[in-house]
Amino acid sequence: MNIEQLVKPFSLLFDLKNGLSDDIESTKRNLSKMKGMYADNEALESILEKEDTLAYEFYELELPNEDNNLLFGTSIVYPGKVGNEFFMTKGHFHNVIDTAEVYYCLSGEGYLLMENPEGDWAAEEFTPGKAVYAPGRYAHRSVNIGDEPLVTFFVFRADAGHDYGTIEEKGFRKLIVDNSGKVEIVDNPKWKNNR
Ligand code: NI
Repeated sequence: MNIEQLVKPFSLLFDLKNGLSDDIESTKRNLSKMKGMYADNEALESILEKEDTLAYEFYELELPNEDNNLLFGTSIVYPGKVGNEFFMTKGHFHNVIDTAEVYYCLSGEGYLLMENPEGDWAAEEFTPGKAVYAPGRYAHRSVNIGDEPLVTFFVFRADAGHDYGTIEEKGFRKLIVDNSGKVEIVDNPKWKNNR
């Protein structure tokens, strides 16, 4: 093994309730970084005129991106909506598209929305204690349908990489929306089937 790639044992503390760690810096995604991701662009712009709200944050470990390492951390999606669409992560495929990932819900309420290029999709519920498996080939996005932060812990193979571009360009097939107090999963009118 290359000595520069030797990872020493370590541990990190993540808060079960708010998901945050004092040990490392999180990556923050404010709504200004989510332009084009929500179905209702006008609703996003009108929020941004008032405030650039923090929509979610997550942790990215600086380990060598080798297939013998694992990357892990928490993802925290804050409660809120753009129009009738719940706050969510951008979502991504893995660059090594066959790489799977596990999410474990620590607190909050929501879904892991998934879809593969072959046309299958799924929305697995997140409630505290629930582990969700995102198989290889499935893009995945966390959606917060509750009124407290949705906190999940994730682990995946360190060489997987993130392909955000495909989702930025074509979106997910499905949206998770609030229809007069009822959570609904509906077709995304802007979804492009051009992968
Ligand atoms: Ni992933």
